[in-house]
Amino acid sequence: MIWKKREGGELTREEIHYLISGFVAGEIPDYQMSAWCMAVYFRGMTFEECTYLTLEMASSGEMIDLSAIPGRKVDKHSTGGVGDKTSLVLIPLVAAAGIPVAKMSGRGLGHTGGTVDKLESIPGFKTSLPQEQFLQQVARIGVALVGQSGHMVPADKKLYALRDLTATVESIPLIASSIVSKKLAAGADGVLLDVKFGDGAFMRDYDQAVELAKTMVEIGNRSGRRFKAVLSDMNEPLGRAIGNSLEVTEAIQTLRGEGPRDLTELCLILGGYMAYLAERSASPEAGADLMKNMLESGKGAAKFGQLITAQGGDARVVEDPGLLPQAPVIHPVVASRDGWVERIDCRALGICAMKLGAGRSKLEDIIKPEVGIKLAAKIGDYVTRGTVIAEVYASDRPGAAASEAEVRDCYHWSDKQVSQPALIREVI
Ligand code: URA
Repeated sequence: MIWKKREGGELTREEIHYLISGFVAGEIPDYQMSAWCMAVYFRGMTFEECTYLTLEMASSGEMIDLSAIPGRKVDKHSTGGVGDKTSLVLIPLVAAAGIPVAKMSGRGLGHTGGTVDKLESIPGFKTSLPQEQFLQQVARIGVALVGQSGHMVPADKKLYALRDLTATVESIPLIASSIVSKKLAAGADGVLLDVKFGDGAFMRDYDQAVELAKTMVEIGNRSGRRFKAVLSDMNEPLGRAIGNSLEVTEAIQTLRGEGPRDLTELCLILGGYMAYLAERSASPEAGADLMKNMLESGKGAAKFGQLITAQGGDARVVEDPGLLPQAPVIHPVVASRDGWVERIDCRALGICAMKLGAGRSKLEDIIKPEVGIKLAAKIGDYVTRGTVIAEVYASDRPGAAASEAEVRDCYHWSDKQVSQPALIREVI
């Protein structure tokens, strides 16, 4: 099979089953699997092969059965970005519209954050529930939001660890099967993928992001679920907050109708597609109107409070985000010149927040929930020299001072007016 793929051949379903089950059982050694991944990296996979690989990985461990919960269940996945707190807003809005959401999310690594870490900044919030309790909660209040169970998709965990060490992460069929297998195992009928492109995204290149989106939608649909993908811009952070409790605060403000324009707009559009996938609305546009209604009526914010209470957290944060962990030091960063913000080094800002303690460079790192960066100026804004463009939220003064120049260097200026980038480029 290594030879067949190296020569550009197409593997059968039986061969892929043999490979993945043998690898998970420890019968196929890492060195052979690594060579196979490298062959896939150079030769690619057909949609058919990729679908077999995805189904094989999805069924390598526990699969969640959501059939006892009435209605079409929908899920969402973001390929990750800086300041991407979309799930915290979107999931309560969708659930408030009566669409059941049983969602499993990840932790952050590197320059991107993870929903589970953000939720854990809410005092008392439990992101791990026994499966029975998880399902009961969705049946009772229409929503649950937890970390991925350790028993799901072991093939992906093992394969990803190998890819990470053998320069084979950046293979579209391997990325697509890794992501889609986890979504299939999580049991939803419909999945909306938010595929980010640009400097702060996992896939920086737009054409590559489109290829990834097309591959995931194709294999998701071939696997018998309904998948759609939205390609959204990650050339600057989403919203203004980067860092866990700062992002929860911004999500709450957004649910109360006081959030930043880009985050609010993205959540309404993504929610519209989720309502459409759940067959709750006749079109994504009608779905977005439904989400707007959930936002303006306060039902989304109330659902978030209900979710927090159900998972042991202090729901008073919805009324008073000041109860979330607060950084002792807030340090301003000022503009070094007059001009329009032309570009922001989004990835570098994410790394800067990570170094403050908002993220992890290795899986074992401990997160500081209260630290991060808040942006006052974004692409297209005009500022004069000396105006505050960002604030660093740090645990001590030396940490804040060390970040100041780094944050300032992430801003690039123009003497000519700059327009704001379009948030969504394409839907697949
Ligand atoms: N995210 C995943 O879940 N898998 C990959 O392979 C890459 C990014």
